[in-house]
Amino acid sequence: MTANGGTLRQVRGAIRRAQGVMILTGAGVSADSGISTFRDFGGLWDRYRPEELATPQAFQRDPKVVWEWYDSRRRTVLSCRPNRGHKAIAQFLLSREDVTLATQNVDGLHQRAFEEATDSLVMAPTPLDRDFDRTLELHGSILRTRCSVCEMSQQEYESIDTSDVDALPHCLDCGAMMRPDVVWFGESLDGSVLELALEAARVAEVCIVVGTSAVVQPAASIPLATQESGGIMIEVNPEHTPLTSLSQWSLQGSSTEVLPQILGL
Ligand code: OAD
Repeated sequence: MTANGGTLRQVRGAIRRAQGVMILTGAGVSADSGISTFRDFGGLWDRYRPEELATPQAFQRDPKVVWEWYDSRRRTVLSCRPNRGHKAIAQFLLSREDVTLATQNVDGLHQRAFEEATDSLVMAPTPLDRDFDRTLELHGSILRTRCSVCEMSQQEYESIDTSDVDALPHCLDCGAMMRPDVVWFGESLDGSVLELALEAARVAEVCIVVGTSAVVQPAASIPLATQESGGIMIEVNPEHTPLTSLSQWSLQGSSTEVLPQILGL
């Protein structure tokens, strides 16, 4: 359904009335910031082979190649800015206590949108004093590194020296090689993060699914938890996905256009 004014009003009303809102985002929410999606035409998995770059085996085989690819993605991400979709989500989270955001994205743009939104609140009198960073990063963050052996992790915003294997980052605690703190193919998600997302989805009356092809598990099952507990799904995506026919409303458009209209305060 291409959203017209009446539909948008209905969707806005359903979101406003809902007790508990879950938002699940994917790569499409960052597309208008200039970050490639994975499965669209020309997307990352169209141009690169995941098994050569995004598996523990690939990292063991050739950490320099893997780090070169991740460092180039890190530089892209750091040069991009949160878009109107990220900002609408950040404002929405700030405005209500009963909203949870789970993202499959590793680009940190949701957090940056929160930081910008909270900075602008500093000047305004506000009763809100809670922790605003309620983003569940299902697939980790490209802006963190973690030890491949001892699980030490840290934020890392500097560019990685990939000139030589010995120059790659090493753990300050145990000396082993550091790796991007992201979930690779064949690895499991952090169980506690996934459980928090599933629980928030179960208690939410509305789950908004934005910019994901909804083919990667277990993330793609999170909206089903809302539906199985009697809630509804609202999808925002220019294309059809396996969740489209299960959604009460499927708003076909870009998240930068649609999200400010349905989440706008
Ligand atoms: P995909 O690349 O699979 O899907 C991107 C989705 O975004 C598609 O459904 C597009 O139609 C939609 N899209 C494109 N532009 C959009 C826009 N401007 N507004 C809204 N939607 C738009 O990306 P994900 O579903 O996020 O995992 O991929 C899931 C996981 O697969 C990723 O987290 C990554 C990848 O392998 C790991 O790396 C573990």
